[in-house]
Amino acid sequence: MKRYENFPLIHHHTFGMDVRAALFVEYDTVDELRELLSSDDFARHRDHYLHIGAGSNLLFGGDYDGLVMHSAIRDLTIEAEDANSVLVRVGSGYVWDDFVAYCVAHGWAGVENLSAIPGEVGASAVQNIGAYGVEVCDVIEQVETLALDGTPRTFLGCECEYGYRDSVFKRHLRGEYIVTHVVYRLAKTPTYKLDYGDLRVRVEAAGAPTLVTVRQAVTAIRDSKLPDPKVMGNAGSFFTNPVITSEHYESLKAEYPDMPSYRIDEERVKVPAGWLIEHTGWKGRALGRAAVHDRQALVLVNRGGATGAEVMELARCICEDIYTKFQIHIVPEVNYV
Ligand code: EPU
Repeated sequence: MKRYENFPLIHHHTFGMDVRAALFVEYDTVDELRELLSSDDFARHRDHYLHIGAGSNLLFGGDYDGLVMHSAIRDLTIEAEDANSVLVRVGSGYVWDDFVAYCVAHGWAGVENLSAIPGEVGASAVQNIGAYGVEVCDVIEQVETLALDGTPRTFLGCECEYGYRDSVFKRHLRGEYIVTHVVYRLAKTPTYKLDYGDLRVRVEAAGAPTLVTVRQAVTAIRDSKLPDPKVMGNAGSFFTNPVITSEHYESLKAEYPDMPSYRIDEERVKVPAGWLIEHTGWKGRALGRAAVHDRQALVLVNRGGATGAEVMELARCICEDIYTKFQIHIVPEVNYV
């Protein structure tokens, strides 16, 4: 276990702010996490702690004067295997994209569309990461956790109440359990999902689809649109795509016929926040040192030296303009700390 006071968080989040944690602890095993949870450090910070993954979905408003915890549990084991599928148990601190690469290299299907998403395995199960028509809940068999008193509890995938970028761990069990391992069920025979955007065209340009070519195509699409956090701080999609009523959608569609949409059911339609931001004129615009990315309006970036407050102010102005023009509330996907 590693323990540091007044610890710089610059390498533990992707927005590039020079902020510090009063106390930072990284544990390597489930036993070490149990030890941490029963320690004086944890008792002192019981009401002021933050568990982070790769920090790819966080925006710090300033220094964090509590305890920041991080998992370095990085084991990967095959739990079971049959002719059709394999169950793989992975530690919460395993880098998500390394796991995707491992699956693709072994011919295991199910996560290839989730290539190149920043973050770690533990957060994948909390956040229900998704891209290109796949959500991680599609392949989650179970989630192993410790309650804050150190008691282990395993949730079946169907008990995690997964929704769009949502789970029980973000709602009524928020802050009560810490994910230690995730068990994924991968298929030995791929069922390719290529119907999102121009993915099929890209993949088929390289011949019949394989796990490798899907991974390459997804990575290339993401690289072409999303800024590299090592070059320009950002946290991927800053907002979730809002869901509006069919009635509201029909009235907007009459005025903006080219507005893209995804129908959820008879009553609800999801509209891309990126389109709304672009059509309020914010794409590529800056406010101080914070800006809207010029290739993907859904991403807010730190152009260098921006504070969390500057990014939050930019986000607030965007939300206000979208509400004024479209009467739609958009909500940050990024967690403000
Ligand atoms: N659009 C614009 N202008 C923009 C950006 C997008 O008009 O600047 C329009 C596009 O033309 C398209 C629609 O919005 O018609 C959707 O755009 P895109 O396919 O880029 O996807 P998205 O809705 O912007 C979502 C996820 C991404 C994920 C992609 C692909 C959310 C909040 N974001 O973005 O996830 O990679 O779909 O599946 O659901 C992330 O969560 O960090 C993330 C990057």
